[in-house]
Amino acid sequence: MNYKINKLNDGHSFKVKSPSNIALIKYWGKYGEQLPSNPSLSITLDNAHTLTTYKISKSDKFELNFKFESMSNEKFQARVEKFFNRAVEFFPFINECRIEMDSMNSFPHSSGIASSAASMSNFASALCEIEKVVTEEDHDEEYYQKKASFMARLGSGSASRSLFPKMSIWGKSVQGSSQEYAIGLDSYDKSFEGICDSIAIVSASEKAVSSSAGHALMNTHPFAKTRFLNACNNFNSLCFALSRGDFKSFAEIVEAEALELHGLMMNSKPSFILMEPNTLAIIAKIRDFRGQTGAKICFTLDAGPNVHILYLKEDEAKVRQFIEEEVRGLCHNNVVIHDHMGNGIEVEYLSRDS
Ligand code: PMV
Repeated sequence: MNYKINKLNDGHSFKVKSPSNIALIKYWGKYGEQLPSNPSLSITLDNAHTLTTYKISKSDKFELNFKFESMSNEKFQARVEKFFNRAVEFFPFINECRIEMDSMNSFPHSSGIASSAASMSNFASALCEIEKVVTEEDHDEEYYQKKASFMARLGSGSASRSLFPKMSIWGKSVQGSSQEYAIGLDSYDKSFEGICDSIAIVSASEKAVSSSAGHALMNTHPFAKTRFLNACNNFNSLCFALSRGDFKSFAEIVEAEALELHGLMMNSKPSFILMEPNTLAIIAKIRDFRGQTGAKICFTLDAGPNVHILYLKEDEAKVRQFIEEEVRGLCHNNVVIHDHMGNGIEVEYLSRDS
């Protein structure tokens, strides 16, 4: 890469807002350098995001000053440093940058919302913003989106999907997606536009199994082959249901994926049961409510006990009432976080000297 570091004068500063995402087709199992064993599909969220302010200046070596909520945090600083050190291969100008960062998450710690997806996509996008300033080459937005998604993937696989508005897919598929980076998915029926995700917080405890330990369980899992095949079939069926506006099939596939993820964990060695009694109670209530009212509602789960309640915009009022009456009381401290489909990464320049 040809670049001119002198273009990076003192005071080059910008903000990146990057959302988390919730997978409908789950990425669970990987090989090589964070390459997925099956394609995955997610909804980009909006309210659940990371907001980071960057101040970049020229230096004779890589220097990082990371703050979380305006305070030093050694554990986070080490993680962020690791990410930037990994990124030098693709963004060589890092070795001549001083990067000051102040980062915050809009959602509570341990809410089970994927903070690594929001944060890694944030850092990767920031690197592309710096590259746009220092590069001598002329690239279009698509190049930067691919590069940011690729870099985010190396930080955390699911982060590759957080860059794009609305919905995103990652992993080789008939949709033309790649193993290396995610792309946006916009071929869905307009009834899914703005789909809502209310997250019922059943427990706010730390994750019982980290993502990397979880993915590793799939290396020796007795059902791995069947799972990867099922995931591909589910992926294709879900794309079809999305394109036709077929909510019934959508709900069937999305719920099956969530339960399959947890089934795999239950059958792993060692075995993990991440659902709690109230996870099952909320699932039963969602299915009853759907049966009684015909509302377009279903659930998905991440690798934890919290329930993501998905519903179409057209049913928002009645589902919100259902959540207040039937679900909130089953949640830890009565917490439900309301979110919906969002627009992906946003960058705002605070000062640009070059
Ligand atoms: O991106 P990772 O390594 O944290 O893995 C994410 C795994 C799941 O959240 C369970 C599923 C997914 O596709 O987001």
